[in-house]
Amino acid sequence: MAQLIVNADVTKGKIDRNIYGHFAEHLGRCVYEGIWVGEDSPIPNIEGMRLDVIEALRELKVPVLRWPGGCFADAYNWKDGIGPKENRKRMVNIHWGGVVENNHFGTHEFLRFCELIGTEPYISGNVGSGTVREMAEWVEYITFDGESPMADLRRENGREQPWSLKYFGVGNESWGCGGNMRPEFYSDLYRQYSAYVRDYGDNRIFKIACGAGSYEYEWTDTVMKMAARFMDGISLHHYTLPTSNWADKGSSTEFDERMWFKTLQQTAEMDTIIEKHSTIMSKYDPEKRVALIVDEWGTWYNVEPGTNPGFLYQQNTLRDALVAGINLNIFHKHNDRVKMANIAQIVNVLQAVLLTEGGRMVVTPTYHVMKMYNVHQDALFVDSTLSSPLYESEGEKLEQISASASVNEDNVLHISLCNLHPSASEEIRIDIRGRQAEQVTGTLLTSQEMNAHNTFDEPEVVVPAAFEEFRVEGGTLIAKLPAKSVVVLAVR
Ligand code: AHR
Repeated sequence: MAQLIVNADVTKGKIDRNIYGHFAEHLGRCVYEGIWVGEDSPIPNIEGMRLDVIEALRELKVPVLRWPGGCFADAYNWKDGIGPKENRKRMVNIHWGGVVENNHFGTHEFLRFCELIGTEPYISGNVGSGTVREMAEWVEYITFDGESPMADLRRENGREQPWSLKYFGVGNESWGCGGNMRPEFYSDLYRQYSAYVRDYGDNRIFKIACGAGSYEYEWTDTVMKMAARFMDGISLHHYTLPTSNWADKGSSTEFDERMWFKTLQQTAEMDTIIEKHSTIMSKYDPEKRVALIVDEWGTWYNVEPGTNPGFLYQQNTLRDALVAGINLNIFHKHNDRVKMANIAQIVNVLQAVLLTEGGRMVVTPTYHVMKMYNVHQDALFVDSTLSSPLYESEGEKLEQISASASVNEDNVLHISLCNLHPSASEEIRIDIRGRQAEQVTGTLLTSQEMNAHNTFDEPEVVVPAAFEEFRVEGGTLIAKLPAKSVVVLAVR
């Protein structure tokens, strides 16, 4: 039997709500079709942005949204996306399918979308192909209240008041699609570009440097050494691929138990990856002033058969729900360093919470997990110790249970649990110390099949249900976790 000791009266930091952030890139059908359909579309919309998506995202409590990329960001000139739509430049989206980008969704539309879904914007600036002036002027355009060329231009384009903008990224994957740079070169550029990302009036910008991909520890070391004092955060990207072969990453829906295991094993590596980057950061920032911003994470499979390979469109199954639950538990644990994480991507791309097809929309298993877990947003992380049986596959082992706990401002203790085993249920003894379990309720996400997923014709194959397989004995809560499940318990 698994055991979880929860020291309910010992808290260790706050789980920043931004850990539940999202990412929207001009890639495939994420922005166009997924968010933007245009004012004249028969699909119900508010100022061109689809209503069903807005409503679903409002319910999800999305705290922060990163835009416009990704690789796209380092090819983007923000001035192409302002002013009358008919005059906006049409450009080629060089990274993603070579399709025409008509720039109908630009700065005004993005910031309006953020207002509509109640989220903080996080803008990713162009270092790879843009100038320092372009970046400086973008910030001026958005945030300056006085008289200046950019503030005046914003007013000409219909927006009198500046927006408030907190999060700004200086380059994306500058070691790869963002310019193939060496860390020393990028560090100097970061110092230069970020100097012109200015605070106007009361607006205070949290500057995020481009960090490493998964295991590139040297990058973090160098950028921290050379530029830590000029930044508030540094990013990290880690994607979950079932195979180590980018040419054949495996199908999102057709997979066997071995692929299930490899996916979850790969995702669990996030824990060590964060640990190692954070330890390197502590060499230069022992006070942990600089945040680790995991601004791209999620599963990455082969695209759905018949779809554009440059569009990264994939289905989302119960396996993705487990991936989400495991990663969120890991981010909670590292709340001293990880202050934001952005799942890639919000609609129709990679591990999306929403999929759309014409006028139809479906919410994915990942959506359900993020919604079940959002009770942890801004809650205090509670100390707990887990002893878990091991889940084995071809001689490799993985902890079968993933768990974390927090207490919110209403003093409700939430415990989130994942059972990674695809065919074995597991009883877990939860010893809650420092409080009585007077009233317990739970929510469960599971299904019969590993690859269960929601489709436009059958949108409710994987949906949350009340969880009742538990009993309280003295101070112990004993729960029976179904195979391949995610459970969130509320203890009052
Ligand atoms: O999310 C898709 C792509 O993955 C992003 O554009 C890039 O930053 C990363 O390589």
